Amino acid sequence: MVVLIVHDSIYGNTASIAQAMAQALQPEHAVRLESVNIGHVPDLTGVDLLIIGSPTRGFRPTPAIQDVLEALPDAGMAGLRAAAFDTRLDLDTIQPAPLRWVVEVGGYAGQTIQRRLIERGCVEAGTATGFLVLGTEGPLKDGERERAAAWAKGLILNQNILEGAA
Ligand SMILES: Cc1cc2nc3c(=O)[nH]c(=O)nc-3n(C[C@H](O)[C@H](O)[C@H](O)COP(=O)(O)O)c2cc1C
Repeated sequence: MVVLIVHDSIYGNTASIAQAMAQALQPEHAVRLESVNIGHVPDLTGVDLLIIGSPTRGFRPTPAIQDVLEALPDAGMAGLRAAAFDTRLDLDTIQPAPLRWVVEVGGYAGQTIQRRLIERGCVEAGTATGFLVLGTEGPLKDGERERAAAWAKGLILNQNILEGAA
């Protein structure tokens, strides 16, 4: 399967999660790992699974990820299996505690990306998820790279089940 993982990352945590996914899927699958690059539109030719990830900033994906979501071509998106992830603050680390409620209710980048992928014609490959950082610049919470690897493998499993049922 050809898997394209597109991500943005300011402090490197989302990139680290994307790398963990790529490592988990290789060499069985052909993985292209691309960080967003202003003006560059990822090539969807031959891609079977698209994964897009962003840090959550102000409850949303970064502007660069939002731009990519709009720039990807309709033809490539139609029917393409896709899934989204984000990185986000571990609620337990946010002080003062009442702020945790604001952050949680505000929402996260992953859900926004997933919604837009579907609006653009993609098929949901799995539930959007978030990986936790312990502070704005990281580090990732222990075990999150392993969880990312398992999540990515789960997307492939979903695809195999669907193909087996077809
Ligand atoms: C300006 C700014 C806004 C942020 N907004 C949120 C937010 O709304 N929710 C949240 O959980 N984390 C928020 N964070 C924490 C980021 O999610 C965290 O910096 C990011 O996951 C780190 O990923 P990166 O290393 O790939 O940049 C924010 C961080 C910054 C700097």
